[in-house]
Amino acid sequence: MKKGIFITMEGPDGSGKSTQIALLKEYLEKEGYDVLITREPGGTVISEAIREIILNKDYTEMSPVTEMLLYASARAQLISEVVGPALDSGKAVISDRFVDSSLVYQGMARGLGVGNVYEVNCQAIGKYMPDVTFLLDLPADVGIARKKDQKELDRMESESLEFHKAVAQGYRSLAERFPERIEKIDATLPIDDICGIIRGRIKELIG
Ligand code: TYD
Repeated sequence: MKKGIFITMEGPDGSGKSTQIALLKEYLEKEGYDVLITREPGGTVISEAIREIILNKDYTEMSPVTEMLLYASARAQLISEVVGPALDSGKAVISDRFVDSSLVYQGMARGLGVGNVYEVNCQAIGKYMPDVTFLLDLPADVGIARKKDQKELDRMESESLEFHKAVAQGYRSLAERFPERIEKIDATLPIDDICGIIRGRIKELIG
C-alpha cells in the first residue's frame, strides 16, 4: 500500500488555488495515487453547516475568538471523518486551505496570536500535519479584484483592504518561519509555470 500524502494549498482569496488543485490531482493520479480533494471550511455535512455560519455576511458581530473556534471545529470534523481515514488508507489528500489559514487570518490578521491559534488547532488536527504546503502568493488588491469579478463577496472577503494586506504579509512571514514545509510561489506567474513548480516539489516528495 502507498503511504498517504497530505498536501495543502494556501493563499489569499483569489490566488488561483482551485486551478492548481485540479492540475495536481491529474498528476498524482498518473503517479498511481487515489486522490481526495477537500476544502476548508467544509468537506463534511457538519463542516459545511459551520461554513454557512462563518461566511454569512449578516453575522458582522462575530467575535474573533468565535470565528477561530468555528474554523477549528469545522477542521476537527473534517480530520476525524475524512482526512485522517483517507491518509491512513494510503490516499493522497489535497486540501484547499488548512491550519495555516487559521494561523494567518485569525492568528495574524485578527490579532489572536499564532501560538494561541496553533494550540487550539492541535486538538483539531492531532497528528495530521501537511507533508507539503503550497502558498500561492499574490498582492492583496489583485486577489480581491479577481474575486469581485467572479461572485458576490462573503463575510471574510468583504473585509477591508488592510485586512487582506495583513493576510498576504502574514502568509509570507509564515513561509519564512516554516521553509521546509511551505513552498511560496508567485501566483502572478502563468498557470503552467506554477504547475511545473508544484510537480517538481511533489516529485521530490514521492520519489
Ligand atoms: P472560501 O470561499 O473557501 O475562500 P477561497 O476561495 O479564497 O479559499 O472562503 C474561505 C474563507 O475563510 C477565506 O476568506 C479564508 C477564510 N479562512 C479563515 O479565515 N480561517 C481558516 O482557518 C480557513 C480555513 C479559512
